[in-house]
Amino acid sequence: MQIPCTAREKELFGCVAQAARQIGVPCYLIGGFVRDKLLNRNTKDMDIVCVGDGIALAHGVASLLDPAIKVNYFKTYGTAQIKYKDIEIEFVGARRESYSENSRNPEVAPGSLEDDQLRRDFTINALAISLNEADYGQLLDPFNGRQDLADKIIRTPLDPARTFSDDPLRMMRGIRFASQLHFTIHPDTFQAIKDNAERIKIITQERITDEFNKIMLSSKPSIGLDLLYQTGLLKIIFPQMVDLVGVETVEGKGHKDNFYHTLQVIDNISRHTRDLWLRWAALMHDIGKPATKRFEEGHGWTFHGHDAVGGKMVPRIFARLKLPQHESMRLVKKLVELHLRPISLTKENITDSAIRRLLFDAGEDLDSLMMLCEADITSKNKARVKRYMENFELVRERLKEVEENDRIRNWQPPITGEMIMETFNLKPGRVVGDLKSAIREAILDGEIPNSFEAAYQYMLRKARELDLTPVK
Ligand code: CTP
Repeated sequence: MQIPCTAREKELFGCVAQAARQIGVPCYLIGGFVRDKLLNRNTKDMDIVCVGDGIALAHGVASLLDPAIKVNYFKTYGTAQIKYKDIEIEFVGARRESYSENSRNPEVAPGSLEDDQLRRDFTINALAISLNEADYGQLLDPFNGRQDLADKIIRTPLDPARTFSDDPLRMMRGIRFASQLHFTIHPDTFQAIKDNAERIKIITQERITDEFNKIMLSSKPSIGLDLLYQTGLLKIIFPQMVDLVGVETVEGKGHKDNFYHTLQVIDNISRHTRDLWLRWAALMHDIGKPATKRFEEGHGWTFHGHDAVGGKMVPRIFARLKLPQHESMRLVKKLVELHLRPISLTKENITDSAIRRLLFDAGEDLDSLMMLCEADITSKNKARVKRYMENFELVRERLKEVEENDRIRNWQPPITGEMIMETFNLKPGRVVGDLKSAIREAILDGEIPNSFEAAYQYMLRKARELDLTPVK
């Protein structure tokens, strides 16, 4: 075997080889598993291609391993899949295929191993290892995939226009691999992505978003995001991001390029977290800037309210990209809305009440918010970065102090809406909401202490102003 493998993997290869021999079909390991092994990366899923019936081979392997194993298969595509312990194995018969112009439905015909390698997306994904007796363990590499792995190059085995027209999602896959592996896309392949970018429109949003999220989860997402921009794909799949590109200059005053600033913020946060949604918050934190950009004479560029405008854009963009609509979206929206708040607390003479408000508004997401704000510092001036970081350290200390005293994080005001309704015999409505928020504001402002008694007395006082009398 020309790749390092574990005892379990060896056992599996043995079983596949035996089952293939029994039904008389040559079989090979292929695709991402081989690529990742050669790169010494972790692997999990295994792809097996055989020159014959992949479904029959899957059944043969399952019965050798454990007859209780279930074989999932798709007759139309001639593919089958089994799971053995923690490893998923996909089986497919070698094929030639092509797609008609406007459809994703492949026309498939049985083919040789080389036909099958040729129809794959990139040379580094077309490497095969024989599991046959005559040349067991040998690497079969007709398109120099191994050299491309060594040279860190993403390139298609066929004319790239053909490969991408077979399945346009491959344009995004290529960019995703470049981002995950820090590889370069070959100029011809790159040009073909540019030329065929429009074809991405025939791909379902779910598949596009899935690849996009893989780019977001790579160690340096800016590589993939910049490639999406350079190739024209970003303009099609996420135009609001492209609106961030560029610098305008008036009266000799420019502003920073918000697109490249954003990419840097994502890379910064990605050094501290693998959480997809925190990375999304970094991606979207300035998304409201193009809509709020103004040039104020004598002052320069401003983006007043871009936090609130950006927050409002989040649900629409998440819906369009078919991203989750609930908790993750709410977190991203909240972080976009709050991302300027900790900075505003770095000024002098900040009151406890401002600190309490941030504790209340950020709640359990305060640490995530602070992480985003620190990632947002992208100045090249080292002294300035140091000063900002020190300021944030002071804010963290103040937040800790106030929290220890007042316990505002995850805090609920002591008087609930139900209590207000019962006390004044009110139906749900605006008055209840107004009273409730008046009590909350009074506590956050430090006007009254955070206790039930003080809040109750305050509620009675406020109610009198509204001519309300308690019924009990
Ligand atoms: N493949 C392809 N075109 C696609 C998808 C997949 O040619 N649009 C081929 C490639 O040879 C790929 C193999 O099918 O290596 C397996 O695909 P998949 O499991 O989706 O990707 P991997 O390359 O294994 O990478 P990862 O697991 O990181 O997604």
